[in-house]
Amino acid sequence: MDPLKMIAANCPQGSAAYEILVEHSSLVAQKALAVARNVSHLKPDMDFIYEAAMLHDIGIIMTHTPELGCTGALPYICHGYTGRAILENAGLARHGQVCERHVGVGITMEDIRSGKLTIPLRDMTPQTLEEQIICYADKFYSKNGHRHPILEKSAEEIVLGLSPYGQDKVDRFISWHRQFEGPESIESTQG
Ligand SMILES: [Fe+2]
Repeated sequence: MDPLKMIAANCPQGSAAYEILVEHSSLVAQKALAVARNVSHLKPDMDFIYEAAMLHDIGIIMTHTPELGCTGALPYICHGYTGRAILENAGLARHGQVCERHVGVGITMEDIRSGKLTIPLRDMTPQTLEEQIICYADKFYSKNGHRHPILEKSAEEIVLGLSPYGQDKVDRFISWHRQFEGPESIESTQG
């Protein structure tokens, strides 16, 4: 499966959305593969990580996000589960789970209920190693059509960005950071 062809089938090549999607997804895929190599003893599925990382944000095309060139009707938060639907329809159910489970550090049923989020009520937290690696890697790169080059965020910046969403979100990120990049990498984020 060629993820670039899959993206092009859903989003015209050369459009702003296509360029932003491919640029962001390529950075996330590189980061996810580097993380996967750090935990090679856990035998992550490298081919799957590359493909799913390239496709994890495909659902943005269904959202109303003009700054990303996306002219759909749905709120941005819907891009996870709509991405899953797109990939399921293409026979890529396993890749689709990555779409649904990568938003933030994963969305719990309690998050959906208490935040009255307009997404289906089901557990959308990453379960498998591959899902967790891609969700983690995604946090290092924002998407935007303007600022170049897109710089990798520091763990400290990511923690700051997650903190309004609750300590449980920060804790989940820190535990992945420790697992994926080694215990010494986290010292400065705990200060
Ligand atoms: Fe992303």
